[in-house]
Amino acid sequence: MKNASLPRHVAIIMDGNGRWAKQHKLQIALGHRRGVETLRAIIRESSDLGIEALSLYAFSTENWRRDPQEVEALMGLLLEFFTSEIDELDQNRVCIRILGDKDGMPERQRQALVQAEERTKENGGLKLNIAINYGGRAELVRAARLLAEQAARGEIAPEDINEETLSQALYTHGLPDVDLLIRTSGEMRLSNFLLYQCAYAEFEFPAVLWPDFDLNAYHEALDAFARRDRRFGGRKA
Ligand code: FPP
Repeated sequence: MKNASLPRHVAIIMDGNGRWAKQHKLQIALGHRRGVETLRAIIRESSDLGIEALSLYAFSTENWRRDPQEVEALMGLLLEFFTSEIDELDQNRVCIRILGDKDGMPERQRQALVQAEERTKENGGLKLNIAINYGGRAELVRAARLLAEQAARGEIAPEDINEETLSQALYTHGLPDVDLLIRTSGEMRLSNFLLYQCAYAEFEFPAVLWPDFDLNAYHEALDAFARRDRRFGGRKA
C-alpha cells in the first residue's frame, strides 16, 4: 500500500466479543480475552505499517452498567494488558495515551494507566490511544469547562475559543483528526466515540466479530479507505 493512501489516524470500536463467546459457547470474559489477542496483533501491525495514530475503544462510560462479573473481567484484562505488554510496547517506541477519566478507575488500574503514559511519553513511534472510561460527550463537556475556567481566570477571551482551541482541550490534543473509523461486528453506530474527531472520518463496518478480525480484515479496511474519494465538504478538483 502506498504511504500517501495510508490513514494517519485509525480509530477502532472493537465490537463483538460477547457474540463471539456465545457462538463458541464460552463465558463472555473469554471473548474479551480473545479480543485482547486481536488488539495486540492490530497494534503491532499498525506500528509496522507506520500508521501515526491508533485509537481503540476499550471501555466506555456506559460499560459500567454491564454485569459486575463482566466489568471485573474487563478490569482484570486491562491491568494484565498494561502490566504484560508495556515492555514490548516501550521497546517498539509506542507512545501510550489514555483517553477518558482515569480518576474514575479503580486505584490499581488507574496507577497502571498513569505509569504506562509516563513511561512511554517520549516515544516517537505509533501514538496508541486507548479510550477507557471514555465518552465523547463527556469529553466535549470537559473541554468546554476547561476553556470556561481559562476564560474565568482571564487567560483567554471568549472570542479566542475556536476549533483550534477546542481541539486542544480534548484528550486527543495534538493528534490529527480520525481518518478511518472501523467498527467490527456489523453494527453501524458511533456509540459516543471521538465525536468531534470523526467529523470527516471515513467509516468501515466489517461484519466480522472483533476476536476474528485478523490482519487480512484490517488490510481490507485499509484498502477500502485508500479507494475512498475524500472531499472534506469541497468538490472534486
Ligand atoms: C465490545 O464487545 C467490546 C468491549 C466492550 C470491550 C473491548 C475490550 C477489549 C477488547 C479488551 C480490553 C481492552 C484492553 C485495552 C486490554 P461486546 O462485549 O459489546 O460484544 P457484543 O456486542 O457481541 O456483546
